[in-house]
Amino acid sequence: MDERLISSSMREDEAKTEYSLRPRALAEYIGQYAVKDHMRIYIDAALKRGEPLDHALFYGPPGLGKTTLAGIVANEMGVSLRVTSGPAITHAGDLAALLTNLAPGDVLFIDEIHRLSATVEEVLYPAMEDFALDIIIGKGPSARSIRLDLPKFTLIGATTRMGLLTSPLRDRFGIKEALTMYDADSLKEIIIRSSRILNIAITDEGAVEIGSRARGTPRVANRLLRRVRDYAEVRMDGSIDLAAAREGLDMLGVDELGLDEIDRKMLEVMIVKFGGRAVGLDTIAAATGEDATTIEDVYEPYLLRLGFIARTPRGRIVMPAGYAHLGYPAEIQQLKLEVDE
Ligand code: ADE
Repeated sequence: MDERLISSSMREDEAKTEYSLRPRALAEYIGQYAVKDHMRIYIDAALKRGEPLDHALFYGPPGLGKTTLAGIVANEMGVSLRVTSGPAITHAGDLAALLTNLAPGDVLFIDEIHRLSATVEEVLYPAMEDFALDIIIGKGPSARSIRLDLPKFTLIGATTRMGLLTSPLRDRFGIKEALTMYDADSLKEIIIRSSRILNIAITDEGAVEIGSRARGTPRVANRLLRRVRDYAEVRMDGSIDLAAAREGLDMLGVDELGLDEIDRKMLEVMIVKFGGRAVGLDTIAAATGEDATTIEDVYEPYLLRLGFIARTPRGRIVMPAGYAHLGYPAEIQQLKLEVDE
């Protein structure tokens, strides 16, 4: 059989599993308590008035449930969800086609909305504000603009990079919610819920162990759960207790704090290769062979949260806790700082 077919169908399987794990109602959504409280009120108020929900922007690191929340909003409002992304909308006409096909009240979800082109954004402004499309007909002196009415809809934008959003776009969202990394209790609950859906036997200790290595991120937690299940099925009796979780996660190269090989390589490069001095993002990317955007969006937020690295005007530096975690004495850093001065 064609190798590419096998790997793509495996990816689809994983994507399907991920989808099946997504909560469909706000009451099923675990964690993000502030966001949940706010959304409950906004949704109930909109339902009571019989109006679509105001446009909403969800921002925060990847894997925290922005797409899931958009699905919940559509479900709770009793409307359809249309999903697209900033990079997928290359022409203004693509967006016009999406908008004109919406039914009243529908939710249009644009992931990575910070990657919309300027021309597409221009089309979005009147659509969001006045539910209208301005279309230019003809060329040159005879060109004229006509306004096409759109159904009232809800735009939900998601971004990992609030700072890259233009301010006119940011200002057009009536609801802005920051998603933050999940605490240990929420991750444990999510893992137990996912295990129930996937028919996996797991103990509380096993769930806590996976949760504590999931970088505060449900998507990571669910991926680790599936890999540990593989390990437990092949090497043990298939159920996940503390020992199975520990052994499986160790095999994956995920340490007690959830750092993987790439995190450790980043820290190692900064400490050893650059002698603890401030290093720019592109330099870290080149030295580790990783993509700069991936480092900034996926790896850095967790290392920053752990206090292992810090951002300075001159670049990223490793903090004492980062040295300690990799087994380097913090005095090394002290010596380096003195040499620098
Ligand atoms: N699966 C992924 N994210 C979740 C969440 N926040 N609550 C419940 N299940 C989830």
